[in-house]
Amino acid sequence: MKYLRLKHASVSISGAGDCPIIGKLVNCCELTEKPQRVDLELSEETNGLNLIWNNGDQKPLKYHLDFVKSVSQLRSFPAPKQGAFNQALGKKSRSIIDATGGWAGDAMLMCLQGYKVIVIERLPLMAALIEEAFWRLAKSEYAANNSIVVPTVLWGNAAELLADLGGGADCVYLDPMFPVKKKKKAASNKQMQLLQWLAGADFDASDVASIAKQNFPRLAVKRPDYAEPLLAEPAIRFSSKLVHYDVYM
Ligand SMILES: C[S@@+](CC[C@H](N)C(=O)[O-])C[C@H]1O[C@@H](n2cnc3c(N)ncnc32)[C@H](O)[C@@H]1O
Repeated sequence: MKYLRLKHASVSISGAGDCPIIGKLVNCCELTEKPQRVDLELSEETNGLNLIWNNGDQKPLKYHLDFVKSVSQLRSFPAPKQGAFNQALGKKSRSIIDATGGWAGDAMLMCLQGYKVIVIERLPLMAALIEEAFWRLAKSEYAANNSIVVPTVLWGNAAELLADLGGGADCVYLDPMFPVKKKKKAASNKQMQLLQWLAGADFDASDVASIAKQNFPRLAVKRPDYAEPLLAEPAIRFSSKLVHYDVYM
């Protein structure tokens, strides 16, 4: 068993030890002695990485990211492009940088719609979870049969990486953490609860947006309807149910 110290969380790591992504996580974090309290338990099992969050107030929450299962539910590949999300990415866009990876739900959708995708995530634990899930998808029969090119995952801060990748994609997509609502109605789902706890607010989202706007032909930003745009004067806005996408050229 190994123990890692993240920004404000302790993580235990257990399991078979043959997954290269766990090695990468261990190398980029601080190893510690067994802490008094383990917040997160990451284990490598036959079905991939499993995470348990001992979040104190409630019973432990379990997480397992399975993109192979998601693709097996798909009727055809590539999946259709439709709605505000794809309008925001742009009709002519073929390659996208998703600069706020999170649980990679959006990046996975882009991949299944046939875009070439690079994902950036700065939280090492999240980067490890999504890279491992894409790694397993890449090895699957479904990916081989459909020649699916899985996203590349870059670990680090988009503000720095986007400047280096300048022009290397048709569009940058940003989905920073939503600002907290004054009157909060519903509790967020368990995936978002963990991200909120690990990431907090993305206070630098406007800086990342400025860098993306300067270096790439198109920037699409997902925002909740109650929030101000990240940058002034979007060129176009595409709206869907509770969110909209601000597009900058
Ligand atoms: C709201 S979540 C994104 C959810 C994602 N679209 C999905 O489908 O799961 C925001 C994520 O972006 C990451 N993030 C925010 N700012 C970042 C930055 N400057 N560089 C890299 N990752 C960043 C956060 O750590 C968090 O995991």
